[in-house]
Amino acid sequence: MPVIEVKNLHKIYQETKVPVKAVNGIDLSFEEGEFAAIVGPSGSGKTTALNMIGGLDAPSEGEVLINNINISDLKSRKLIDFRLKNIGFVFQAYNLIPVLTALENVAFIMQLQGWSKKDRETRAKELLEAVGIDLDRIHNRPGNLSGGQQQRVAVARALAPRPKFILADEPTANLDSKSTSELLDIMQKMNKESKITFIFSTHDQRVMDKARRIITVEDGKVKEDKKIA
Ligand SMILES: Nc1ncnc2c1ncn2[C@@H]1O[C@H](COP(=O)(O)OP(=O)(O)O)[C@@H](O)[C@H]1O
Ligand SMILES: [Mg+2]
Repeated sequence: MPVIEVKNLHKIYQETKVPVKAVNGIDLSFEEGEFAAIVGPSGSGKTTALNMIGGLDAPSEGEVLINNINISDLKSRKLIDFRLKNIGFVFQAYNLIPVLTALENVAFIMQLQGWSKKDRETRAKELLEAVGIDLDRIHNRPGNLSGGQQQRVAVARALAPRPKFILADEPTANLDSKSTSELLDIMQKMNKESKITFIFSTHDQRVMDKARRIITVEDGKVKEDKKIA
């Protein structure tokens, strides 16, 4: 049974002079535990599609069902709660909160969810360790961490509320090859150990090489959808 179903998904940006059809009828379904990459040239609609799959953006047409819940039907507060509980996001530019330390960034969503200070710090430390951040770095702010370290913190943050899904938009685009391969190993391990479903967008060959499914998009449509044995 699919855990994510994307049906006839469209997004037309209307604010521009000429409306842009960024996503133009995408149908996809994902099973639990997939490690899938959405690939395609810049401007093909990867970010727009991923944002709608994760409920960060609303479709112009079509729907996204996550565990049989149509997320477009959720009202804003419920959608925020649903996202916090179920979906972790990783972004190309890390998007950590600059005034918070690594530890505080990871603990932040747990704080929103009402975890005690002790519990969230314990879990945040475990996660930072799991993604390979040394203890002597956990009180650094993002500005005092390398790109690779920031993205590890971002992965730890995404994992903190024990989400069922991680959506990662070009997570390795700004990383050197060593950081990329280490980060991929970490995500692959999380995927295998905890059955978290990962969906990436990427045009990084190194990410594609690790993916077990490659969904190629072009002009907002799925061109090819290939499972890798
Ligand atoms: N907020 C926006 N307003 C207008 N057009 C947008 C907006 N965001 C993206 N687009 C356009 O939609 C298309 C798809 O963009 P995007 O989803 O970012 O593609 P990708 O992530 O594959 O590079 C592009 O033509 C882009 O210029
Ligand atoms: Mg993009």
